[in-house]
Amino acid sequence: MIADLPPGLTARHLMDEDHLPVLAVLDRWWGGLKGQAGSTERALLLPRLYFDHFTTTSFVVERDGEIAAFLIGFLSQTEPGTAYVHFAGVDPALHGQGVGRALYQAFFAIAQSYGRHHVRCVTSPENSSSQAFHVRLGFTASAVKPDYDGPGLDRVTFSIELPVDAVAVPPAERYLGS
Ligand SMILES: CC(C)(COP(=O)(O)OP(=O)(O)OC[C@H]1O[C@@H](n2cnc3c(N)ncnc32)[C@H](O)[C@@H]1OP(=O)(O)O)[C@@H](O)C(=O)NCCC(=O)NCCS
Repeated sequence: MIADLPPGLTARHLMDEDHLPVLAVLDRWWGGLKGQAGSTERALLLPRLYFDHFTTTSFVVERDGEIAAFLIGFLSQTEPGTAYVHFAGVDPALHGQGVGRALYQAFFAIAQSYGRHHVRCVTSPENSSSQAFHVRLGFTASAVKPDYDGPGLDRVTFSIELPVDAVAVPPAERYLGS
């Protein structure tokens, strides 16, 4: 399902049972970024609905039955050409081994299979490693957008265009014969 993972890692789609295990790793994996406020912010970003309704466009990577990385994303309902990465993280013990890149590449492939050619995501201005990672993957970063996600919740936004010649015909259009 996901190519180029280091040995010993396996990938699958997200399941509802992953909700609490993913919540449990957030503070450690984010290094306590932004203290208690950051902890609350991160937990509120992952209510149960993501684990019920966005499973087929989201992934978990496991090592010895434990969660080693995850990516939660979805297809935009509003913008037919867009897919969105909502939240992604990799166990710090595995940083720098290409796991994050592999997760994003897998998400890009799913997005393209649904005819999506544009991927967006956001991160906190304080999260410099996330910003460096996204830029390295080819995303274009915005300037800091004050209050983007609500009062006091500034964000940097990212976008990337996927190669158009690799975009497949969306399943719905296939059935409509257009
Ligand atoms: C950001 C994160 C997902 C990157 O995952 P990762 O598996 O370490 O990244 P990869 O090894 O796939 O790196 C892909 C590229 O980004 C670069 N990169 C990754 N982290 C970087 C950093 N902190 N600074 C500079 N470059 C970085 C790598 O060097 C690599 O470049 P290369 O392919 O040219 O060698 C991971 O650090 C993480 O989970 N951080 C905490 C949670 C977080 O911030 N999530 C993202 C916001 S929601």
